[in-house]
Amino acid sequence: MLELKPPLVLLSGPAGFGEYLKLIDHRYVGGIILKTVTLNPKEGNSTPRMADGDFYVINRIGLENPGIHEFVENVPELPVPMIASLGGDSFEEYLEVARTFKKVSDKFCAVEFNFSCPNVKEGGLSIIKDRKRWKTLIVEIRKILPDSFLIAKIGIEGIFVEEAAEIVVDTGWNGITLVNTVRGLHFEKGSMILGGLSGPLLKPIALRAVYEVKRRFPKLLVIASGGVYSMKDAKEFLNVGADVIGVGSALFKDPGIVEEIGKYLMEVKG
Ligand SMILES: Cc1cc2nc3c(=O)[nH]c(=O)nc-3n(C[C@H](O)[C@H](O)[C@H](O)COP(=O)(O)O)c2cc1C
Repeated sequence: MLELKPPLVLLSGPAGFGEYLKLIDHRYVGGIILKTVTLNPKEGNSTPRMADGDFYVINRIGLENPGIHEFVENVPELPVPMIASLGGDSFEEYLEVARTFKKVSDKFCAVEFNFSCPNVKEGGLSIIKDRKRWKTLIVEIRKILPDSFLIAKIGIEGIFVEEAAEIVVDTGWNGITLVNTVRGLHFEKGSMILGGLSGPLLKPIALRAVYEVKRRFPKLLVIASGGVYSMKDAKEFLNVGADVIGVGSALFKDPGIVEEIGKYLMEVKG
């Protein structure tokens, strides 16, 4: 099992490669999921890349990252347990990324594979649409990384979360992160931003996803991701069975919330 103390992680993307840790007391952070890394470096999309709505954040960063080769040469050294996040633009890319990552896998307590990014042309969403092919892919990844704690990050698009969870369990993976952002459209000064929605609007969707998966697969580790902005939100995710609470967009608003939720989780979860 993945023992994170407290069971609180900073989610992939908003937490970057550790920048926010400077603003947070490390005792209250159980782990950090680094920004998703792909085979080739990506510059990401043109600006604007992010905007605020009344109850959400929308982003179209486009997986900006240095690429897996640069990443393994310069693995960040951070004061909290690290979880890598890996992605790809095709079946073969995922495998190549996994193979390259293997060289440094012992520096990470787990590795999350992003099968759900809505902001790149191919990537996770197109892979997961084809169930059989996705299952073959994750079987192959397990062979490459037999000893890693493997977590699949799933959104609500392209597949039902409970169906994805069944495949994750059947293939010997260890955990699932629910959910990723949902495709949305936001007007900013009259221009459209097509991106992924996160924040409070996502919470009821994420709660339902965690609930559905946890009641079918109680032993599967579930990381909650979607709209945790307060201790009340964290409590609700614990109520539906989340094992680990993830904080993402709330970091932009108030990194202090991590300490508050972390303290609370230490009290109730030890
Ligand atoms: C600016 C931004 C960048 C993100 N980048 C990634 C990413 O690289 N990989 C990933 O798996 N999820 C990424 N996400 C999704 C978050 O990890 C998280 O799943 C989502 O924001 C929902 O949680 P929240 O409502 O607490 O933000 C990103 C989200 C935001 C807002």
